[in-house]
Amino acid sequence: MPLIYSYPLKSGMPLLLSTIAMALMTSTALAQSNAEKSGHNDEAASFQTSAFGRMPDGRQVDLYHFTNANGIELKVINYGGIIVSLKTPNVEGEFDDIVLGFDSLETYLSEEYRQANPYFGAIIGRYGNRIANGEFSLNGDTYTLATNDGDNHLHGGDKGFDKVLWEAEPFENEDGSGLVLRYTSEDGEEGYPGKLETQVTYTLTDDDELEVEYQATTNKATPVNLTQHSYFNLKGEGSDTILDHQLMINADAFTPVNESLIPTGELRSVEGTPFDFTQPTPIGERIEQDNEQLSFGGGYDHNFVLARDNAASDELVLAAKVWEPQSGRMVEVSTTEPGIQFYSGNFLDGSLTGKQGQSYEHRSGFALETQHYPDSPNQEAFPSTILEPGETYRSRTVYRFAAQKAFGS
Ligand code: BGC
Repeated sequence: MPLIYSYPLKSGMPLLLSTIAMALMTSTALAQSNAEKSGHNDEAASFQTSAFGRMPDGRQVDLYHFTNANGIELKVINYGGIIVSLKTPNVEGEFDDIVLGFDSLETYLSEEYRQANPYFGAIIGRYGNRIANGEFSLNGDTYTLATNDGDNHLHGGDKGFDKVLWEAEPFENEDGSGLVLRYTSEDGEEGYPGKLETQVTYTLTDDDELEVEYQATTNKATPVNLTQHSYFNLKGEGSDTILDHQLMINADAFTPVNESLIPTGELRSVEGTPFDFTQPTPIGERIEQDNEQLSFGGGYDHNFVLARDNAASDELVLAAKVWEPQSGRMVEVSTTEPGIQFYSGNFLDGSLTGKQGQSYEHRSGFALETQHYPDSPNQEAFPSTILEPGETYRSRTVYRFAAQKAFGS
């Protein structure tokens, strides 16, 4: 059984022995069935490709299904680069889908979904989060962007990177398997200057990590702020709210907002506020407190200023960690970005029905979007989001998954 000998038993991997045994069996079966179906016989990671649907103009959308050596499964489509499914084990070794989403393209394209616009699992661009009044000035010119969130521009506009078809190329390498996605955003798209060549790489590693690498180049100066908009529910999608998930955010400050969720420009200390997640705290513990910032967001919908301690801008630092007590599932997020938007799913209202037929209720998923701060093109004091011709935008985020009996183990 060469597969068993090549199984990457990592020191410190916090899985129970039974979990490991199950994962071994699962990965053996999956690797074998994948080898048969896709012709790839790598003993560890593997992938399969299948048709997911067609765009209204007839172009085919594909589904890419990756499995790592421990049985973790990731499904991505090249429409919006959307992660439609991610299955990880609980402490008993039982796998569940931990991201909100749908199993048909029709649902992602439906009018009902576009109206609700939760951006489930999608790549967000050209600019993650809001730009005030859909306007900014750069090098003496004023640019007007699509306004799709009241008076503001949100997540790239009417047709952001979440709603376009990306060119996709699956791969396998020594780290795992994944997908390179490429999209060219034309000069003037949604009001932005410059033709932006974008590349996003997802890698599911045999260390139980999902790595997302972003790159972009432009021919005119333009703001760029790319992120990933998965909604997690570590108990399993569609099951319950996320209020008992325990959250740690490595941030001593956050960027308070006005009533339309535009940062005021202040970096405010989290100390003594419901925004202090420096110690693990259940998401629901303070969410209903009488607090102006929480009332503006309808809960948490805020950018946190990550404690990077002078780390270089290409260095990963721990941004957040979430643990769900019932399943023991944990996700840890590390990033090269200076900020993270913690969104507690406040706009979910039960009107969307997910993959397994359950409705997605208020706060039944949370997003942790690594990013530069919202509205940076209008906020001189925030780290710049302007990409110049000749430069390469680079950003990297790693989500590590595990199952453990306590937050800290
Ligand atoms: C924003 C929310 C928005 C959500 C879904 C988050 O990144 O901060 O305000 O409702 O995305 O669109």
